[in-house]
Amino acid sequence: MRYWTLGKYLIFMARYISKSEGETVAFGRDLAKRLRPGSFVALYGDLGAGKTQFVKGICEAFKVKEVVNSPTFTIVNEYHGTLPVYHIDLYRMKDIQEIFGIGFDEYSEAGGVCLVEWAEKLDGIIPEKRFDVKMAVIDDTTREIIVDSPGGED
Ligand SMILES: Nc1ncnc2c1ncn2[C@@H]1O[C@H](COP(=O)(O)OP(=O)(O)OP(=O)(O)O)[C@@H](O)[C@H]1O
Ligand SMILES: [Mg+2]
Repeated sequence: MRYWTLGKYLIFMARYISKSEGETVAFGRDLAKRLRPGSFVALYGDLGAGKTQFVKGICEAFKVKEVVNSPTFTIVNEYHGTLPVYHIDLYRMKDIQEIFGIGFDEYSEAGGVCLVEWAEKLDGIIPEKRFDVKMAVIDDTTREIIVDSPGGED
């Protein structure tokens, strides 16, 4: 993991090779230590890349009791942990209008933790302060995960 500063912000970037679903979950649990009320995590990567597994790890860290799975049909799953966790899947969203239609800006300002799959759909409306989690399939059981905080951390 590398850290550097940009103005008053601490920037970090991590590249991790996950060898199993469990390692991806554990990495999500680790990232959760850096999340606060209002934090925003943008997840990128193809179908099956492991975004939802990573989200499961974050939810474990916040002691979420509900079942965590891809909210592809419901669009938003709201979990109740030590913080509210909003798990949003934008896969089926056609445009920014539709994304506002699901109340996107309310979730991102509700004081919980926002975890967004298919964040590339947010195009111009993605919060500047966030974590980007980019996941790529290497083979059946291996994933590359790159995490960074492009807008910096407090
Ligand atoms: N190293 C790994 N990390 C994460 N998942 C893995 C890994 N190896 C294999 N897998 C498998 O890959 C799949 C990842 O599924 P997951 O639902 O997390 O993907 P996703 O990126 O959320 O896809 P979608 O866009 O369809 O929601 C699971 O079936 C999981 O068991
Ligand atoms: Mg998913």
